[in-house]
Amino acid sequence: MIILKTHAEVELMRQSALLVSNTLSVVAGVLKPGITTLALDKLIGEYIHDHHAVPSFLNYNGYPFNSCISVNDVVVHGFPNKKELREGDIVSVDIGVILHGWHGDHAYTFAIGDPGKDVMQLIRVTKESLYKGIEKTIAGNRIGDISFAIQQHTEKKHEYGVVRELVGHGLGKNMHEDPQVPNYGKRGSGAKLKEGMVLAIEPMINLGKKEVYTESDGWTVRTKDGKPSVHFEHDVCVRKIEADILSDYAPIEAAEKSNVNLFSEYEIVA
Ligand code: MF3
Ligand code: CO
Repeated sequence: MIILKTHAEVELMRQSALLVSNTLSVVAGVLKPGITTLALDKLIGEYIHDHHAVPSFLNYNGYPFNSCISVNDVVVHGFPNKKELREGDIVSVDIGVILHGWHGDHAYTFAIGDPGKDVMQLIRVTKESLYKGIEKTIAGNRIGDISFAIQQHTEKKHEYGVVRELVGHGLGKNMHEDPQVPNYGKRGSGAKLKEGMVLAIEPMINLGKKEVYTESDGWTVRTKDGKPSVHFEHDVCVRKIEADILSDYAPIEAAEKSNVNLFSEYEIVA
């Protein structure tokens, strides 16, 4: 069952989404070689609590951390740990909060130093594909239109691997609501988009092949071929003319650009 949100509810969800954006911008400000993902996770938990919210991932189906931090070949659901980040690593940071009963859930992939041209292109194209999906997130279209747009840009145009096992989702009073939002699919298929639907759209795109596996910890998802993977996620509300993007990359990108330890020399060509 797809739950439509009222305008007032969407404004509350915007606050939740923006709290995640601001948390991600704090992360963007402190990322550097030598920092551990566990230190980042601690900072994330503190920032969320300081802003009168709770980290929604913690204890979700037994998940044991505030955030998911996925480095290099880890696709998603990486456990924060004591390993130091190094120059050339790419780091996907996925954060969820509950504020006033409403969920925010979004993600951004950072490059610590220069991971090389191919990986920088993967980051750029994955982010572009998210916006290509969002362009299709308008009332009257179908879920498959979003899926198709993401798959076209990443798999057809660039021959990257589109992860099949994990998908985007509806978002609201629960983190995972209907409908599912795959990053692959047929135009014109799936549920019809209606004003007031809120979706977490989250392409997970591999430099190499699409196949992934889950580690014995039950969470960490890695690429089978060991090549890097990138993850971007926005929370968006379906509207008639264009989607309302509730989360905001502007503060994150500003912090990323002013952090000399992060490589961000690329432009969005949406
Ligand atoms: N953004 C992820 C998702 O949409 C995060 C959930 S992971 C968990 O599923 F830790 F919360 F389980
Ligand atoms: Co999500």
